[in-house]
Amino acid sequence: MSAIHVALLGLGTVGKGVLETIHTHQERLQFALGKPVKVTAVLVRNVNKHTIQDETILLTDQFEDLQLEKADVVIDAIVGVEPGFTYVRKAIEKGCHVITANKEMFAHHGKELMELARKHHVSIGFEATVGGGIPVIQTLRKLLNINRITKVEGVINGTSNFILTNMREKGLSFEEVLKTAQESGYAEADPTNDVEGFDAYFKALVLSHVVFGEVPKPEHTVRKGISQIKIEDINHATSLGLKYKHIAKLEKQGDVITCNVEPVLISNDHPFYSVEGVQNAVSIDADIVGNITLLGPGAGKLPTASAVIEDFLHLYQEQSLSYLKQQPLEV
Ligand code: HSE
Repeated sequence: MSAIHVALLGLGTVGKGVLETIHTHQERLQFALGKPVKVTAVLVRNVNKHTIQDETILLTDQFEDLQLEKADVVIDAIVGVEPGFTYVRKAIEKGCHVITANKEMFAHHGKELMELARKHHVSIGFEATVGGGIPVIQTLRKLLNINRITKVEGVINGTSNFILTNMREKGLSFEEVLKTAQESGYAEADPTNDVEGFDAYFKALVLSHVVFGEVPKPEHTVRKGISQIKIEDINHATSLGLKYKHIAKLEKQGDVITCNVEPVLISNDHPFYSVEGVQNAVSIDADIVGNITLLGPGAGKLPTASAVIEDFLHLYQEQSLSYLKQQPLEV
């Protein structure tokens, strides 16, 4: 039986989670897809810093070694706009399906990559770019199409929420909690993106593309992080029964999309009041259904791998459906 061949870009927290999950859930994948899933090669920056138990998997620092002509799917688990964008573009041009967890790259080039993928008759999955393990992208793309969405709000940076929660609950300093967030694999290699609101802003741009088909203009955007919040501010808020939450809010009024990414003081009647630690939550206001709030783990190895692996299945389901659509109906 032929296998589905996968090339993996990156072996950080997400890459490791994906490799592990393909191994632990091979039987379920094979049952759902009708074929085994085989990771053939993993691209890393420095081969001396990594080991892979499975000797049939090529570990390389050369993109060309991945032999994408033989791969079916490329999973992008690296960070930053480049070289991620170049790699994903090349993968699509070689006819590979792509699943990406790279929010910064996808925030900047998602639209262009989706068009390129359409042109090359391949699919691109990006569930893992927003909300870790929460299936927010698929919910918005597949399940809320007739509804008009007017507002999307979210706690979408796990590291910021983890820091705010632990400062409040344990009285720890910002630096101490950030260190734990890095050790737990929540924070980015350079945590500036997390604590200055850039990571949540990139995710908000991805959400805006999905929901409104365009992104907010810079003059309608606010982006602030949590690095200026001191333990005294948190304690004062607590004494008033309030909590700081780092919230990204997208709203469309008329033709104008506004995006506010900033720490907000909320009281116990707010849907995000109990969203603690590395959890993320996304609240969607739509004209038919009303409000939906999705809650779950927003970062970490297995939650993010879950989003990638579920995208994998959707991608193949989508492909077989579009294949079926091209067949003449006999009934
Ligand atoms: N650094 C990110 C976060 C990882 O803390 O939310 C998940 O995108």
